[in-house]
Parts: sequence; structure tokens; C-alpha cells
Amino acid sequence: MCRHCLSTLCSWSRSWGWASESLSVTQSESLLVTQMLPAGLVASAVVSASSANLGPGFDSIGLALSLCDEIVVETTDSGLVVEVEGEGAGQVPLGPEHLVVRAVECGLQAVGVRAAGLVVRSRNDIPHSCGLGSSAAAVVGGLAAVNGLVAQTDSIPLTDAQLIQLSSEFEGHPDNAAAAVLGGAVVSWIDRTGAEPKYSAVPLRLHPDIHLYCAIPEERSLTAETRVLLPAQVSHDDARFNVSRAALLVVALTERPDLLMAATEDVLHQAQRGPAMPASAEYLRLLRCNNVGATLSGAGPSLIALSTEAELPLEVLEYGTTNGFTITEMTAGEGVRWNPGVTVPG
Ligand code: HSE
Repeated sequence: MCRHCLSTLCSWSRSWGWASESLSVTQSESLLVTQMLPAGLVASAVVSASSANLGPGFDSIGLALSLCDEIVVETTDSGLVVEVEGEGAGQVPLGPEHLVVRAVECGLQAVGVRAAGLVVRSRNDIPHSCGLGSSAAAVVGGLAAVNGLVAQTDSIPLTDAQLIQLSSEFEGHPDNAAAAVLGGAVVSWIDRTGAEPKYSAVPLRLHPDIHLYCAIPEERSLTAETRVLLPAQVSHDDARFNVSRAALLVVALTERPDLLMAATEDVLHQAQRGPAMPASAEYLRLLRCNNVGATLSGAGPSLIALSTEAELPLEVLEYGTTNGFTITEMTAGEGVRWNPGVTVPG
């Protein structure tokens, strides 16, 4: 857990009585917090869903999608109120352990301010546990909403690089988080040479001929449960295969969408996850048999299809809807946008 977020959890413990015996805050960490925000500040963020991996780009390539969550944060004199509408309502915890709340507190700590109390409201359109980056969106959105608060003070908002670093620390890989911050398609990477991992990303210029179709099944699946299906070691042959396809994917996404079929091939994680999501694995096979460059979206079970065709083949569409998939054409998402106040300009 990152230094900021460790102290984040501790500061919630101090403020709202939530405690964890395994956590402690050092004096130097507590000195990072310098300014108490006044009550009555309001800020909001709109943040994109994302599809990670796109086949061969495991844990590195990501694509923001035109499906968004909206977060509104308000400072108050005391206490914590969390409200959730839409996806996750009635299911996620409404306390300091809520992911958006943890991200907000992490962001406050990172910019050196505190709030005596908070109201955090989320209106969620991104389905949970579907492989569409809902947790990255929650974290990026919470951090970005902090920017909307501190923009009303003397403190300096977090840069995109800081948003990527802090949000990636929550998940341990930057593919969804970087896409949710920057929008569009991104290549991200981790530098582990220092004491803490350093996360970075660059945007790609997505070719305008690429159409995006998302197929969301009724089943849900947790990334943590499907990551354990992946072997700790892979063969040199398989590594070489994915290196070539990931490099090709960058070319296909930016300049040569005609190469998307070959560029979305993967041998490192999709087949390994298939047994945990047989309906998605079968639909993925059918899409690819019909020459559609489909992949698992992130850890699944949703699928993302990248195609130069303005429509999916009818047979493929009918199979999907008959088998419980909701198929939606999307465009590339804009990433995160934040604003002082309750609305984010479009
Ligand atoms: N790259 C990640 C994975 C994305 O495939 O496990 C899901 O968070």
C-alpha cells in the first residue's frame, strides 16, 4: 500500500473512529497535512470506464470508453455521508472503506489538505465486476474531485502524472487507471527500480476508422479471482508471441486498423481465464471466427470488439443477445474531467 494511502486510512481512523490495528501513521507523514479545507466547498468529476489489455497488452495497454461515473464531493464540518446511485447502489459499503472515499482522502493527503467532514455522492453507470474499469474509475474520480476542491484554495491540484501514480498504486497496474485519467488509448508501464513502483503512461492517437463494441454478460467476475488463474511463469515462446502482438497492436490502433485481428491475439491470459467465464470464452471464439477483433475486456467477463466495420455481423449480434450479452457500440472515452462546483462542463 502506498505511503499516501496508508496515512489516508489512518486519518479516516482518527476522524471517524474507523480503526485498523495493522496501520500506523508516522510523524513525518502526518506533517504532510497542512491545511484544513473550509466547509461548504463542492467539486465534481466525471470519469470514463476503460477496457484493459485489449488482448496482448496485458497490464499495459488500455482504452477509455464512453461510459461514465460522476462523483460530487462536498466538505462539511464533521462526519462522513456517502450516497450511491446506479451501479453498486445497495451493494457497496457507505463508509470510509468505500473506494471513492478512500481515493478522496488519499488525494487530500497528497495535496496536503484535510477536511473535517465530507459528503461523497457517486452516480454510477459503469457496471461493477465486469472488466470495465469501475474500480479504477472510482479511484481516479475520487482523486480528481479533490482537484476540484483544492482549485478553490491556495493548494495546487494533482497533475495527470500524479493522478496516474496515485490511482495505479491502488490496483498495482496502471492500464485501467491511466486510460481513465488520460482518455482514449494508452500505453502504460511500471518502473520498479526505485523504492516504490513508478507508474507512467502515454496516450495513443486512436485511428478514426476503429469502431468499439462492448458485450456485457449477465455474470460478474472479480479481477482478483481470475488473476490467480494465471501461471506465475510463461514460456519464452508465449512471451515472444505476445511481445510481437502488443507491438503490432500499437500500430493497428493508430495507423493500421486493418491489422486488428492479428494485433488482438494473446496467449498469456485470455484462454487461462476462459474456464471461469465459459459464456464469454465461447462468445469471444465466435466473434473472432467471424473476423471481429474481439478480446476480453480487462479481466472479463465483458468483451470488447475493435472493428473497422460500422456494424457487427448479424449472426454474431443475434448469438450475443440470445445468450444474455448486452451489446453496445461505444466511442473512446475522454478520461477524467473535474470541476469546482457540481457540474463538469461537457
Ligand atoms: N490488466 C488487468 C488484468 C486488468 O487483466 O488483470 C484488470 O484490472
